[in-house]
Amino acid sequence: MVIEPIIKGVVARSAHPYGCEASIQNQIQFAKKATQIKNGPKRVLILGASSGFGLAARIALTFGGSQADTIGVSFERGPSDKGVGTAGWYNNIFFKQEAEKEGRKAINIIGDAFSQDTRDQVIEAIETYFEGEVDLIIYSLATGVRPNPETGEKWVSSIKPIGDNVTGATVMLDTDEWQETTIEAATEDEIEATIKVMGGSDWESWVDTLINSESIAEGCKTIAFSYIGSEANYPIYRNGTLGWAKVDLHQASHSLNLKLANFNGSAHATVCKALVTKASVFIPTFTPYIMALYRAMKEDGTHEGCIEQMQRLFSDKLYNHEPIPVDAERLIRMDDWEMKPNVQQRVTELMSQMNATNFKDIGDFQGYKQEFMQLNGFDVDGVDYQQDITLEQLTTLEP
Ligand code: NAI
Repeated sequence: MVIEPIIKGVVARSAHPYGCEASIQNQIQFAKKATQIKNGPKRVLILGASSGFGLAARIALTFGGSQADTIGVSFERGPSDKGVGTAGWYNNIFFKQEAEKEGRKAINIIGDAFSQDTRDQVIEAIETYFEGEVDLIIYSLATGVRPNPETGEKWVSSIKPIGDNVTGATVMLDTDEWQETTIEAATEDEIEATIKVMGGSDWESWVDTLINSESIAEGCKTIAFSYIGSEANYPIYRNGTLGWAKVDLHQASHSLNLKLANFNGSAHATVCKALVTKASVFIPTFTPYIMALYRAMKEDGTHEGCIEQMQRLFSDKLYNHEPIPVDAERLIRMDDWEMKPNVQQRVTELMSQMNATNFKDIGDFQGYKQEFMQLNGFDVDGVDYQQDITLEQLTTLEP
C-alpha cells in the first residue's frame, strides 16, 4: 500500500514510518552539529519520549554531546488491521536503531505512565540497564486523561478559560479552514480535573517512586515542561485551566527540588516556546498566535523547533551553568526568544490584521501546516511517498 496522510480536524489518523525515520535522522544531524552538551547526564529516563519535546530531548542527550543511554516511556500504537500505527511508534523504533548504531542503550517501554505496571517495568529497566540509578528524569507527558491512583476513576482535562468565555479561531488541518469558536468558561470540577491531569502531582509521584526504589543517582536532576505565553494568549492559556495546571507544576518543582537536594540534585520547571506538536494543535484558539509567532521569529532569525530548544536547554542552561540560570520564580526560560519585546510587538501587529480570509498570507500558515505534517512523517524531504509498504514489513519492526 501507499501510505497517505489522513487528517480529521486537528488529528492525524495515519503516519508515514519512513518519513518518521527521515525526520529522526534530520534531528540527529542537527544535534551532532550544534553546540555540544558538556558534563551532561549518562543515564536518562524520559516519560513521554516518543514525540515533541520528550523525543527531541532524547535525541539531543544521545547525539548532542552527552552520549546518554535512555529509557523512554510512551503510549503508542503499532501496526494492526486497524491501521499503520502512530508516528510515535515509529519514532521509538528508528530512534533506537540509530542510538544502537552508536553504541548507546535505548530502551522503549510502551505503556500507560500512570499504571503501576509501567512503573515496575521502569524500575526493572533502571536496575538492568543503568546499574540501578538515573542521572536525569524528564517528565514530558501530554495527555487528556489520568486515572485517580486511589479510586481508579478518570480525571479528564478541559482546555478552557476561567471566568469569562473566550472567542477565537482554530485552523482545521484537514480543510485548512479558519473556524471561529467560543469556548465556555470551565466549571470548578473541570479546573480541578485539569490540574490533576496536567499539573505536577504525577511528576511528583514518579520521582517519589524512584526515590523509594533507590533509583536516584547522586546529582540527579528532574525537569518538566511548562508554557506561559504572552497577553495575546493569556485568556486561553495562562489565565485558563492549562495555566492553572502549569502553576501547580511549578509548585511541584519546588517541593521536588527540596527532595532532590538530599542527593545534591535539583528539579526545575522549564518554560518552552510555543510549537506545533500533537498536543498543542489541540488548544482551541491558539493557532493564530502560533502562526503569527512563527512568522515573527523567522523574520527575527530566532525561530526554533523542539530539537533546537532541547539542545540549547542542555548545552546552555541545564548542564553548562552553575548555578542553573532561572527567573525570579525559579523557572528555566527557554521561551526567552519568544518573549523578546520586538517579537511580541510583531506578533500583536500580525494578530490584529489576521482574519478568516488572509491568515495564510499574514501568518506562517505554511510553516505551521508543514510542521504538523512532518510530525506524522509526511512532507519530509527525500522520502519516497509512492513506495509500496506492506503491513507485514511494518510488523517486523520492533520498538
Ligand atoms: P506530545 O504530544 O508531542 O508528546 C507527548 C508524549 O507523552 C508522547 O510521547 C506520548 O506517547 C506520551 N504520553 C501521553 N500519554 C501517555 C501515557 N498515559 N503514558 C505514557 N506516555 C504517554 O507533547 P508535547 O507538546 O511535546 O508536550 C510535552 C510537554 O511540553 C507538555 O507538558 C506540554 O504542556 C509542554 N509544552 C508544550 C509546548 C508546545 O507548544 N507544544 C510549549 C511548552 C510546553
